[in-house]
Amino acid sequence: MSVDSIISGTPGSSRHPIDVVIMAAGKGTRMKSRLPKVLHALAGKPLLMHVVDVARVLHARNTVVITGHGAAQVKNALAHYGTSTAMDGLHYVLQEPQLGTGHAVAQAMPVVPDDGLVVVLSGDVPLTRADTLRALLAASGGDKLALLTIDFEDPTGYGRIVRSQANGSDKDGAVRAIVEQKDATEAQRAIHEIYSGIMVAPARYLKQWLARLDNSNAQGEYYLTDIVKFAVADGVPVVAHKIDDAIQVAGINSPVQLAQLERSYQRRVASRLMEQGVRLADPERLDVRGSLVCEQDVSIDINCIFEGHVELAEGVRIGAHCVIANASIAPNAVIHPFTHIDGEKAGVYVGEGALVGPFARLRPGAVLGEQVHIGNFVEVKNSTLATGAKANHLAYLGDAYVGERVNYGAGSITANYDGANKHRTTIEADVHVGSNCVLVAPVTLGAGSTIGAGSTITKDVEPGVLGVVRGTLISKANWVRPKKARSE
Ligand code: UD1
Ligand code: MG
Repeated sequence: MSVDSIISGTPGSSRHPIDVVIMAAGKGTRMKSRLPKVLHALAGKPLLMHVVDVARVLHARNTVVITGHGAAQVKNALAHYGTSTAMDGLHYVLQEPQLGTGHAVAQAMPVVPDDGLVVVLSGDVPLTRADTLRALLAASGGDKLALLTIDFEDPTGYGRIVRSQANGSDKDGAVRAIVEQKDATEAQRAIHEIYSGIMVAPARYLKQWLARLDNSNAQGEYYLTDIVKFAVADGVPVVAHKIDDAIQVAGINSPVQLAQLERSYQRRVASRLMEQGVRLADPERLDVRGSLVCEQDVSIDINCIFEGHVELAEGVRIGAHCVIANASIAPNAVIHPFTHIDGEKAGVYVGEGALVGPFARLRPGAVLGEQVHIGNFVEVKNSTLATGAKANHLAYLGDAYVGERVNYGAGSITANYDGANKHRTTIEADVHVGSNCVLVAPVTLGAGSTIGAGSTITKDVEPGVLGVVRGTLISKANWVRPKKARSE
């Protein structure tokens, strides 16, 4: 049987559709937080979403999330993310009370059909790769119980993989059982191979095994791991797929572990970028909370944060301390330090060779053409600036079109909001807007016009003219300033 036919999750198209069960009912006491553990963020995304996303990559037919503590909050959070990750076959099952991992998985069985392969995952183990799960599915072959295992120098706290001894009656080294830390003998505690918490089981067997579980053990819980004994007793082969990449099975129990896994993840992202040729001033000081796609000869200075989807084209330079979200930056543009770019849904586009910052702010719908300059303390929202336009100091452009080569003076703003509605400002090509102007929208400044400094423009300005709205200077000779009374 080919791996593809085993792992395909398309209903009806293969012999073994995939159904993913994600355990997420635990409280996460050690997080010391009101937020359910699985909703804490790693790389900008709730832990549970990482796991749901891997189920999506596997094309799972059903993804069953087992909730308990904070069930409503978990559901709401996933629904919120659902806008970007709409998926079919997502179910929630409530486990109340929580009587152990076996009990948890049993709650999911009513929505899991008999003909599939069940992948058991934990909502607090966020970085398992789809490739690893595909290999585990292949190891199961559709009719075996497959366990994801790893050797840990310090296996304390984990379930140990107990294998048959040499010269025993069984095949040498076959998996016989998983024994939990609290139930293990001294000899079993010395075993370094541990169960990761991730397994693949044929649904038809899993259902029978779960029905046979009891809680006569050190913790009085229904252990999912006890099904290994039933598999052995039933003559169903148990295979261990061992990996050596600890990050993929790392679970989160505390803020310290969350921060450590975040760093491990970020180091990995940084290495991958550098392997592609990206120059990072310091790989320890980069945070990618989403996807960052870089072309050749991109350089990124220290302490930059990238969120959502960001694309940096060839030769782009990002200065220190920038926060950039949902933006596309064209070749050779330079983003100077301390710039904040957040495209949210509408996105931000920075054109070829543009210069932005330091201390600039680009908001959703900012579209900068080639060679545009946006300087310090300039805010741009829902506005297009054509080739060569410049706004270099202390300015606001909202709901505006700014033509080619326009020079937008220091301190000038578009008054785009009348308290109820937003209005547009059009500044045609080659306009020169002096300093400290207020453009009260809706308004159009005709091509080549000049707006005198300090003008409040409430009417359209004809092309080519000088428009100025300004009080005249009053000079009073021999003016005597008021003096403070003496306090004696
Ligand atoms: C489990 C395994 C252990 C393995 C370890 C790997 C069992 C009995 N033991 O132990 O062999 O080495 O994971 O990390 O399975 N959960 C529920 N409902 C419950 C209990 C737990 O949803 O009633 C969820 C938890 O929220 C968590 C996951 O299941 O996401 C694992 O539970 P946890 O209590 O952490 O199991 P471990 O003792 O770590
Ligand atoms: Mg655990």
